[in-house]
Amino acid sequence: MKYLGEGGVNLFQKIAMLVADYKEKNGEENLINIGSGEPDTTPPETLKKLVAEEVLSDVYATHTYQENNSKNKLNQNFVELNTGINIDKYPNLSTQLLPWEKPMLGLLPIACGANRDDVEIDNDGFMVNAPNYDVIQTWTWYLWEKSFVWPMFAEENFALKVSNMPAWAKPRMILTVKPGNPCPVGATREEWVETIEHCIKNKIRLVNDGAYTALTHNSHVTLTEVAVDYPELEWMELFSGSKTFSMCGWRLGVAVWSSDFVSELAKVKWNADSGPFGPLVSGMEKYLEWNQAKLDAKEKQEMYEKRLEILTKVFTDFGLKLACPTDAGFFMMFDCPKTLDWKEVLNSEEYNKEIITKLWIVWVPFSGQKGEQFIRYSACYDAFDEAKIAKLKDVLSRVEISY
Ligand SMILES: Cc1ncc(COP(=O)(O)O)c(C=O)c1O
Repeated sequence: MKYLGEGGVNLFQKIAMLVADYKEKNGEENLINIGSGEPDTTPPETLKKLVAEEVLSDVYATHTYQENNSKNKLNQNFVELNTGINIDKYPNLSTQLLPWEKPMLGLLPIACGANRDDVEIDNDGFMVNAPNYDVIQTWTWYLWEKSFVWPMFAEENFALKVSNMPAWAKPRMILTVKPGNPCPVGATREEWVETIEHCIKNKIRLVNDGAYTALTHNSHVTLTEVAVDYPELEWMELFSGSKTFSMCGWRLGVAVWSSDFVSELAKVKWNADSGPFGPLVSGMEKYLEWNQAKLDAKEKQEMYEKRLEILTKVFTDFGLKLACPTDAGFFMMFDCPKTLDWKEVLNSEEYNKEIITKLWIVWVPFSGQKGEQFIRYSACYDAFDEAKIAKLKDVLSRVEISY
């Protein structure tokens, strides 16, 4: 028996399936995976050592459940690393240690009373900016909830503009991803002010997924920096260690927030998880007290910035056109070409499949709200390795593209 229909699989899962299928049929050696959103390096040495020591520690508390929602040093330093804000100066702010960001996104609609009609609230459904990391959309699909898209456009540099929202929508929550995935563009103070004022006026909760914040290359203002001046806003911003310290499998993040929203999320969360791995929490707490953590985060940021410079040149020389600059993280977003080897391509998904089959290169296709077609590449690929770059150039030279 099946309760879920055919939907509920997000884009990243689809690509993973395509790649797995390819590997099974053709082997792994020739595959150039330049679409992955997972760092290809390991966590910093100091962090690894500190956590290893904690694993061997006989301190009982280290090995217990880590449900913590107090302003401990780890949370405080993690928020400061991402936002520059010292939360001690804001008594109305709370923080929460997260064993991850991703499943937390799924709990947010539940914490906003998804599908409950025993509350007298006009607001209905959930809105997300797009093109976007579409995890929340699949959750609203599972929950059979209304889902609205807040479009962003390349000609506006993928900015958040309230005038682009569907006018009829009054959701319970808006989720933004800034700096974005796939559009690696940050946000400005003006964008947040406009969004916050709209949310306060319409009683909408505002959440930003800031997974790429600590890897900012150009300008980006965090939601936290602006929201602290709006006590009437129900808001939250999530940060993750996954990309900042190449620790995707370690599962650690921190959320900062104010308001009722928090107590509701905490209620839901405590039914779903018991906190991250203890030695990781105590090791990370020690690590973040050192200046070394800031230096390591900076080193990762600079590594991606330099890799992006090299890779962007390879792809633009090949003929691709950038859809936007890269403000943060490791993604590059390009307009999808119209032809491949003089044959018209229908859309970026078809283009992606053709390229995997012809060149064994994996990247990720995206569509805009007006039907615009994009492809996303990632710098989780060692662009300093000359042999790898030569191979990439060689493979690309085997096809012709045009717009
Ligand atoms: C926008 C965004 N948020 C969150 C995540 C996942 O974060 P975490 O590893 O903390 O679950 C990703 C990973 O790809 C992401 O791109």
